[in-house]
Amino acid sequence: MTVKQEKKKSRDKSKRRQKKKQAKRKDHWESAETADRHDLYERSVQNSESEIDFVEEVWKELRNRTPRLLREDFCGTAQTSAEWIRRHDENRAIGVDLDAEVVSWGMRRNTDRLTEEQLGRLDVRLENVLHVETGPVDTVLAMNFSYYLFKQRESLRGYFAAVHKALAEDGLFFMDAYGGSESFTEMEEERDLDGFTYVWDQHSYNPVDGGVVNKIHFRFPDDTEMTDAFIYDWRLWTLPEIKELLLEAGFCRATVYWEGTDEETEEGDGEFKPTTCGEACAGWIAYIVAEK
Ligand SMILES: C[S@@+](CC[C@H](N)C(=O)[O-])C[C@H]1O[C@@H](n2cnc3c(N)ncnc32)[C@H](O)[C@@H]1O
Repeated sequence: MTVKQEKKKSRDKSKRRQKKKQAKRKDHWESAETADRHDLYERSVQNSESEIDFVEEVWKELRNRTPRLLREDFCGTAQTSAEWIRRHDENRAIGVDLDAEVVSWGMRRNTDRLTEEQLGRLDVRLENVLHVETGPVDTVLAMNFSYYLFKQRESLRGYFAAVHKALAEDGLFFMDAYGGSESFTEMEEERDLDGFTYVWDQHSYNPVDGGVVNKIHFRFPDDTEMTDAFIYDWRLWTLPEIKELLLEAGFCRATVYWEGTDEETEEGDGEFKPTTCGEACAGWIAYIVAEK
C-alpha cells in the first residue's frame, strides 16, 4: 500500500465518526446497571448544536429571512428541538415521534434543560410523521437517517411529499445520510466516550433489497454491556435515489452538502459544503437540503 493510500484509508475510516462530538475520557466510569440508554444515545449519537448551526447557516445562504418554526421529525427525546428553542426567544419547535416511551423521557429531560417559558414554545406530538398535521412550518429536520425506515420508493416518496406539503412556500427540509464502501459490510465500530464505549454494529446487510439492520450497544469499563440498546431495521438508500425521490415528491432542488477534510488530521473537519461530486470514502456522512 502506498503512503497516499494509507493516508486515505485512515481518513476514510474516521470521517464518519467525526460528525458527532468526540468526548474525552474522564474519571467517572459508568455501568450497564445504572446507565440510561436515552442519556447515552444523546451523548454519543447526537450533536444538536452543530446540526442547528448548519440549519442556520444554510438558511442564511439560501433565503432572505430567518426561520422561526422548526419541525423535528423522528424527534426522539427532542434534544434538537430544545437546542432550536434556546437559540432565540422567538423560536418555536414541533417534535414528532410515535414512541411514547422516548417522548415522555424527553419531556422529563426537557424540563431540566429548558425554562418554563422555553417549554411553552415546544410542542411534542406523539404521532406518525406520515399523518401529522402541523400547518406551514419554516423548516423540517429528519436526522440520524430516521427516514431510511421507509423501505420502498413509494413510501419514502410519500413521506417526502408530506414534508413538502407541511412546509411554508420557501421552506427548507434538512436530512442526513450515510454511506461509503464500509456501510455495505457487516462490522462493528467502537468509539470511546466519557465513561463508556459506543458501539455501532452494522449487523446485517441484504444486497438483494438493500435492507440493513443496525444496532447500537454500549460497553462499560466494568465489563458490563447494554446490548441492543437501539435496533434499526431500514434500507440503505443512496444519495442519487434520495435526491430523485425528493424531486419526484415536489421539491424544486435537492443539494448534497459534503464534509471537508482537515489537512492536518486527514479527518472530516465538520464543515459541510454543497457539491455535486463526493469522495469514494469507506465511510461518510452528508447532509441533504431540499428546497420547496
Ligand atoms: C434513529 S431515532 C432518531 C432520533 C433523533 N431524531 C436523532 O436525531 O437522533 C428514530 C426515531 O424515529 C421514531 N419513529 C419511527 N418511525 C416513526 C414514524 N413513522 N413517525 C414518527 N416517529 C417515528 C422512533 O420512535 C425513534 O424515536
